[in-house]
Amino acid sequence: MTPQEASQKCAEICTLAPVVPVLVVHDIAHARPLAEALVAGGLPALEVTLRTDCALDVISEMAKVEGGIVGAGTLLNAQDVSNAINAGAEFGVSPGYTEQLLDAAEEKALPLLCGTSTASDVMRLLARGYNVAKFFPAEANGGAPALKAIGAPLPQMNFCPTGGISLKNANEYLSLSNTLCVGGSWVAPASLVEKGDWKAIEELAREAASL
Ligand code: 3PG
Repeated sequence: MTPQEASQKCAEICTLAPVVPVLVVHDIAHARPLAEALVAGGLPALEVTLRTDCALDVISEMAKVEGGIVGAGTLLNAQDVSNAINAGAEFGVSPGYTEQLLDAAEEKALPLLCGTSTASDVMRLLARGYNVAKFFPAEANGGAPALKAIGAPLPQMNFCPTGGISLKNANEYLSLSNTLCVGGSWVAPASLVEKGDWKAIEELAREAASL
């Protein structure tokens, strides 16, 4: 997969809905109902973080949910790329990137939404042929004003900002011409996931989908 093809696929995924939920799932039994609630609420693209022991199994379960597109978050190396693909992930996410990680994702045809936080990061990705990236950690890096400022000299890059975004500030990003969608964990808070309150999560998803 070329960088151009990967970016095209990431752009498609990022424009399915205004928000990509970032999910931390500790219990495999939560995978299906959680994905179903988010998809029913209007958020089909889901990022499962590889921060829990069962994360790869969670991806496999969620990948069976009709209408969902499941990605694996924080891929660091070629092994992570293979694990994500084997679990059924359709895209990968990383907080930054290395040339080796990009090589592996391209070779194994996994679209990678990789992180940038500076103009130089963006320039290196553009030089390699990418025009879609994550902006991370969005709020800590200066938030929407910083992303807008990066976009002035580098309008070719399109972003999914993530990190510190919530219902309160999501529209600051979504109104920027270089922002395709935002990523955030607020739509699936740990308290509701632990309780199995899928109705409440579906409502949060619906609210986020209408941003
Ligand atoms: C993360 O690092 O887990 C993601 O960027 C989501 O961040 P958030 O919890 O601030 O939405």
